[in-house]
This record gives sequence, structure tokens and C-alpha cells, in this order.
Amino acid sequence: MSQYSLDLFDALTYADADVAIDVSRIFPAGADPADILGRLDAFSPSCAAMLAIEGGAIANPDEGRMVGHYWLRDADLAPDPALKTAILAALSQVSAFADAVHAGTIAPQRGGKFAHILIIGIGGSALGPQFVSAALTTAADKMKVHFFDNTDPDGIDRALDQIGDGLAATLAIVISKSGGTQETRNGMLEAAAAFAREGLDFAKHAVAVTGEGSALNKHAKSHGFLDTFPMWDWVGGRTSELSAVGLLPAALQGLDIAAMLDGAALMDTKTRRGQPRENPAAWLAFAWHEATGGTGKRDMVVLPYKDRLELFSRYLQQLVMESIGKRLDLQGNEVLQGLAVYGNKGSTDQHAYVQQLRDGVKNFFVTFIEVLQDRGADRPVLEVEPGVTSGDYLSGFLQGTRRALTDADRPSLTLTIQRCDARAIGMLIALYERAVGIYAHRIGVNAYHQPGVEAGKKAAQAVIDLQLRVVTALQQRRGQTLALAEIGNAAGSADTEAVYWVLRHLAANPGKGLVRTDGGFKAAGSSWRSA
Ligand code: PA5
Repeated sequence: MSQYSLDLFDALTYADADVAIDVSRIFPAGADPADILGRLDAFSPSCAAMLAIEGGAIANPDEGRMVGHYWLRDADLAPDPALKTAILAALSQVSAFADAVHAGTIAPQRGGKFAHILIIGIGGSALGPQFVSAALTTAADKMKVHFFDNTDPDGIDRALDQIGDGLAATLAIVISKSGGTQETRNGMLEAAAAFAREGLDFAKHAVAVTGEGSALNKHAKSHGFLDTFPMWDWVGGRTSELSAVGLLPAALQGLDIAAMLDGAALMDTKTRRGQPRENPAAWLAFAWHEATGGTGKRDMVVLPYKDRLELFSRYLQQLVMESIGKRLDLQGNEVLQGLAVYGNKGSTDQHAYVQQLRDGVKNFFVTFIEVLQDRGADRPVLEVEPGVTSGDYLSGFLQGTRRALTDADRPSLTLTIQRCDARAIGMLIALYERAVGIYAHRIGVNAYHQPGVEAGKKAAQAVIDLQLRVVTALQQRRGQTLALAEIGNAAGSADTEAVYWVLRHLAANPGKGLVRTDGGFKAAGSSWRSA
């Protein structure tokens, strides 16, 4: 029960959705509920803005885009009949494709049935599928899921090792909204090469989820991929889990995507309220604002007491930090906004950083996630002590930590769900998507662009361009040791540090044909590749 008022607690208990949110411990003990509610009312314009977004307003002014992830779970809301048709068609396409794969009518090149899925994507094109896959996996999964979510060759090898001799039964899903993300492009090329090494045609094992006309879309079509699935410009990467980006992998894994969509739609009805007092997402955004002063001065620690939800913090980290972490506000003023998110799971983390949360610097607030049901009803229950189960301990640890934090004047909020099923996961996704939108509006930043991500892509490309110039410079004087400054000079770069980092990396990887000598670096051997 709330330490402030029972009414406040009851207002955020949704029996029909099996969800309850307790924000009472965000506020200092003794705070006056009337004051709290008064400050919450300042979120009215932000709730109204969410309604405008659902109606098709341009909510991403930089990119001139609508923000329509709400339409994905209720296509009737789409502001244009063509969008509704596209959403419903994509849903049917996903279900029909997954059914055909499970039935074996869409089959691998050498016959049999697909048994593995290799998802190739990054950021919003991977984190949702990773979270959902881990949260809902069971022994009854129809396919085993693997990820290339980076351009780390060793990570790629590790995923391929997990697939092992199952490559001939692997379906690759290349996911990229823009269709031009380097990490994903590299992952796709690495996967295609791995298939080729097994004598397999990647295209006969691959589908793409991407925007119409993107480089990936063109590649998929020209190479004859099994299928392509749409991604629209009005769905942001980090809010794309309930588009084909998340639904296709989930349906193939055998998860209940209808229940996930239903859960999200149900939560959307609860957060589609102009009155913040009746809107759980507004309460959540308000709680963040109260805890951080609306400036990010405290971090959000996400502590689900449920192993299945371990990736929730990573998923939220992107959703929140990529949406909220902005240099400029909507008026172009420098605001350096943010809300840092981290966490793993309880009680595991009680044996790690929770020590600092309880006793150390007060620069955070905790979001506890409580899942009432311990384990599947068909599972045997063990009493680890007379009358006490492992799950009772988990619950006890949650309550104990929550109370200890409150007693030590550390704010927290608690979100309770009945069980960790597809419906609850859909609700959690919808709740946080809306809360992020409301919070961003309240602090006046554009939640739907990511200029920092784009800048990072450009910076990496500049390094690759420098590497190519460095390599050319060394190749032109093959066998000759050149000092760093000479190499930089020949490569047209005065950035000695960047030149050194490129060379150091090249020299550490045999096969690059570059060696480090006493006086500098040299290209060795008769040809760059064979050296
Ligand atoms: O949320 C976002 O917009 C980003 O994290 C993108 O998802 C990420 O950069 C990958 O982009 P894309 O899907 O275009 O490959």
C-alpha cells in the first residue's frame, strides 16, 4: 500500500490488465498528496500531445515524420486508410510466412525445415527482438534464435559456433529500417560468406525487414531473398518491436504475437488519457521527473526480480536514452538532457552494485519490477525450507531491498505484473513507449530523432576512409619502414593519434599484411592480402 494515500495506489491498479504501479516511494515521506497531484497536472499538455501524435501529427519535426507505433496494435487508429491496409497486410504476411516456415512449405535450400533464426540488426532493429525472445522463450519454442547485433568478428564467430552444424537449417532475418547501417550490412556479408563456405546460397535462407527502396531492400530483391517485410518511416527504430521488426522473429520463435499486440493495445487504451491523473504512463513520466528534477540528475536503475526480464533494462536503456538524451530542445536551446538507465535483475544484483544503492551516493532511483507468479503452474514446487520456496525468497529480497531503500531516503517505484507472458510484455512495451513520449514532451525534446547516432556513423566512416589512405600510403612503399608522421603525411592526415590507432589495429591482425617495426610500420610481403 502507498505510504501516502490508498486512493493514489488504487488509482494505478489495473485488475483487467494484471498491472499495478506504485509510485508512492518516489516522493519524500510526508509529502502532501494534494501537492503531488497538482504537480502531476502540469503533464496535461504532454498527454494531449500524445493524442495529437496518435492522430497523425508530425511529431518528429527534424525529419518531418509522423510517429505511428500506436497504430501497429490498433490499425483503425491510422490516420489514412492506406496505412491501415499496409499495417494489416504486414501482419498477415508475418503470420503466413511463419506458418509456412513451421509447416516446412518455406524450406531451406537442401530441404527439411528451418530450425534456427539468425537475426542480423542493431539498436532498435535488435534490442526489442532480443528482449522479447529472452522474456518469452520456453522449451516449446519452434525455432532457436541467434543474433548478430554488432560488427565484432569474434561475436559473429561466437554466434556461428552456437548455430554449429545447423546453418543449413538457419533462416537469416536482416533487419534495418534505413537499410544502410554498416554493422548490419557487415553482419549480412559475414553471414552470406558463412553460408557460402557451407555451399549454401544465403538468399535462399534470408529475408529482410526494411524500408521500401532502401539499399537493403534493393539488395534483397536483386539477390532473390525469400521475402521482404516492410518498415515504415513513421515507425522509429526503438519503437518498432510491434512492427515486422519484432513480430516476425517472435512469430517464427513460436511466441503468441496476437497476445503481445493485445497487451499493447490494452495498455494503449489506459494511457490514451488526456487527464494525467488517470494515465499510468503520465504517472510514470511524472515519477521520473520528480526523481530527477526533469534534468536527469538521477539515474534510473531497472531491477526486475525475474530472470526472463534481464534484458528489459537494456531495451529500456535504448528506448529512454536515445529518446531523451538530447543536446538541444525543440526550440534549439542547448539543454543537455538525459535520463541514464541501467540494471540487470534482482536478487542477483543485490550481490553486486545494490551495495552502493543502499549505502552510497544518492544519484539514482530504482524501478522494481515484480512478477507475482513464480513459475509455470505445471512445474513442481520445492520447499527450500518448511513452507518456503525459492520464489518466496525472491519476493522477500525484493521487498527487503525496496524497504531498505525507502528507509535510507532513496526513491523507487514498483511495477507489478501477474506473470511474464506475451500479453504482459506487450503491455510493458506500450507503457514505456508512451511514458517516454510524455516525458520528452514535458522537458521539451524531440524523442523521435537520434542525431548523436547519425554523428557516430559518420565518425566511423571517417576512420575507415583514413585507414584506406594509410594502407595505400604503405602499399606504395611496400617493404619500407615508415614513421608515424610520414605515414600520416602520406595519408593526408595530421591526426597522428588516429593514424596510430588505425595502424595499431591493422598490425594486431595477421593477414592485414602490416607489421610493426622498431622505427614504425611497414607493408610486408608481395601483396597486401597475402603478406
Ligand atoms: O532507434 C533507432 O532509431 C536506432 O537505434 C536504430 O534502430 C539503429 O541505428 C539501427 O538503424 P537501422 O534499423 O536503420 O539499421
